[in-house]
Amino acid sequence: MCAALLKHLRKRKTVFLKGNMSLLSLVLSLVLISVQLSWAQEDPLLPFSEHLDPEQKVRLKWGFDEIQGTILFELTVNTSGWIGFGFSPNGGMTGADIVIGGVEPNGSYFADWHAAGNSMPVVDQQQNYKLLSLNQSDGKTVMKFQRSIESCDEDDLPITSLPIKLIYAYGLNDDITYHDTRRGTKEVNLLRYKPRISPPDSQYFDLTTDNLTIPTEKTYYHCKIIKGPTFSQKQHIYRFEPLIRNVDLVHHLLLFRCPPGVTDVYEGQCYTGVQKEECMEGVALWGVGGGAFEFPAVAGLPIGGNNGESFYRLEVHYNNQNNTEGRVDNSGLRLYYTSELRQYDAGILGTGLVVAPGYAIPPRAKGFMTYGLCDTAYIPQVLSETPQDFQVFAAMLHTHLAGRKVRVGHFRGGKQIDLLAVDENYNFEYQDVTNLGKTKTVKLGDKLLVQCIYNTENRTKLTWGGLSTTDEMCLAFLLYYPAMSVSGCMSFPNLTALRTEMENPDETNWLTMMSTKAWDDASISQYQQTLKRIDQFVIVAGSNNNISRKIGKIPDLKVVPPALCRSGCASQSLAWISLLLSLALQWFS
Ligand SMILES: *[C@@H]1O[C@H](CO)[C@@H](O)[C@H](O)[C@H]1NC(C)=O
Ligand SMILES: *[C@@H]1O[C@H](CO)[C@@H](O)[C@H](O)[C@H]1NC(C)=O
Ligand SMILES: *[C@@H]1O[C@H](CO)[C@@H](O)[C@H](O)[C@H]1NC(C)=O
Ligand SMILES: *[C@@H]1O[C@H](CO)[C@@H](O)[C@H](O)[C@H]1NC(C)=O
Ligand SMILES: *[C@@H]1O[C@H](CO)[C@@H](O)[C@H](O)[C@H]1NC(C)=O
Ligand SMILES: *[C@@H]1O[C@H](CO)[C@@H](O)[C@H](O)[C@H]1NC(C)=O
Repeated sequence: MCAALLKHLRKRKTVFLKGNMSLLSLVLSLVLISVQLSWAQEDPLLPFSEHLDPEQKVRLKWGFDEIQGTILFELTVNTSGWIGFGFSPNGGMTGADIVIGGVEPNGSYFADWHAAGNSMPVVDQQQNYKLLSLNQSDGKTVMKFQRSIESCDEDDLPITSLPIKLIYAYGLNDDITYHDTRRGTKEVNLLRYKPRISPPDSQYFDLTTDNLTIPTEKTYYHCKIIKGPTFSQKQHIYRFEPLIRNVDLVHHLLLFRCPPGVTDVYEGQCYTGVQKEECMEGVALWGVGGGAFEFPAVAGLPIGGNNGESFYRLEVHYNNQNNTEGRVDNSGLRLYYTSELRQYDAGILGTGLVVAPGYAIPPRAKGFMTYGLCDTAYIPQVLSETPQDFQVFAAMLHTHLAGRKVRVGHFRGGKQIDLLAVDENYNFEYQDVTNLGKTKTVKLGDKLLVQCIYNTENRTKLTWGGLSTTDEMCLAFLLYYPAMSVSGCMSFPNLTALRTEMENPDETNWLTMMSTKAWDDASISQYQQTLKRIDQFVIVAGSNNNISRKIGKIPDLKVVPPALCRSGCASQSLAWISLLLSLALQWFS
């Protein structure tokens, strides 16, 4: 079945770039919609917020940049006295890493402290917190400060991707003394923050498969067109949760909304050309190992109202490597919604390398790189609405078994300005929609480059781009607002140019040539450089299946060095270094 699918895909590849949408819809997965109102405000640098005390007098907002290695806090306390905040190994004072600040008539004070025992903390010799602002008005004190995510000295605690105990205390005046009542602790995962579970009266609906007997094929993509609930008023979906019944076989789920023309239910194998591949507007997604996802307070996925009756396409990838028989599945997604509309409609944009055969990763490569380019300058060409810049708040990075690293470079005016998202320890078994730590603005005209690094050192055969888990993908699904009527922004190398450069211009024996080539470090390196150098077809697909096709070049991607521990830990400027080249040398020399 897998071979048949690939054959089918290969047959279609030539027409694909001329505008065949069904292969593009494959994984050129996703999204759209647009409307908006206006209220709630979000500081893009402080997307997360928690009250630390039951009385809600102490509020912590935070945001971070894992690439620069910094974390930013804003602590607001209803007091005109001193305020303190910190990290504790066990919730108590012993071993705690603390900042204390306040405002006096003659000025403000702020310092990094630590507590050796259950006694008055002492000021650290090395001051690793940087105060950004400290204001007091109307009985409230607001302290904004930054530190490095890592610990900068032994008096500080490192912040990891695990929950950590936050402690707070405050006084009614500026005399920093013992504080019996005005203190407390709360455990929060700062870097992998998930808001509390939904309120008990929250409304939801489920879209799932229904007693589907999982086929014995190793790779099977099941598509189900389902009629969703009807809402006369627009609602916002603000949370989705996976409902996974066969955890060992369900690899990933994608949920798409269908355009108004789709009015029939359907169920069957995906990408056979029969079913409704025009359902491409991404709504929700889940990958093996992932959990629930909740949208930021300013955004939600629109549903109902003008959209009328909604049909959805649920796509489930079953990875049944042992050809297990007779398993019945009811997996799918639970979508929570609210009539209290948020400020923005959110969307999901598929970026990366178009999933199609034609290029392959050689065997015995320790760190082979592939690229997919999204040039947002071409997005306006497929939009019916007024183009505008967009805010990215989360991403799901996706490769198959050989993927080891995924990076999304952000370029503006020919220069790399950031890494939008990055996973230096990509694990196929753990694919989650992760918050970026801060909301990042993509201006139309910016380029987004998805780079994937694969390890095929134990493979003896080529690894082709394709649907099976033993094939490869290089994708980044970006969650953003305000939504645009665009489903994907991806690229694919000009295969004619690739074949010419590989001195095998004839298409008919391309597969044979690639399969029989003597792949060694030198030939792998040369092929990789060729793949990066040749022109890309840059493809933007609008929600109405209108497509922009342009030519692009893969820019050089740099990875940033981890943030240095310095006093204040506040290196704001991006000191880019070209680590990539040295990595490449390391792998191929
Ligand atoms: C804290 O201060 C704000 C603004 O002054 C006020 O609206 C709120 O009620 C106060 N909260 C408590 C718990 O005192
Ligand atoms: C403000 O005055 C008090 C009392 O004289 C002094 O202890 C404190 O250090 C001063 N604070 C600042 C920020 O100068
Ligand atoms: C705090 O004060 C700074 C200047 O000291 C000002 O720029 C900032 O807007 C103030 N922040 C708040 C929240 O009032
Ligand atoms: C699915 O199977 C269960 C158990 O056999 C049965 O109760 C249920 O009615 C079935 N659902 C459908 C839609 O057939
Ligand atoms: C390749 O195989 C060797 C020997 O079995 C093993 O140590 C190594 O971890 C494998 N590498 C990968 C990437 O699976
Ligand atoms: C692809 O590359 C070939 C060979 O370099 C070139 O002739 C052709 O024009 C390119 N196709 C496009 C659409 O640019």
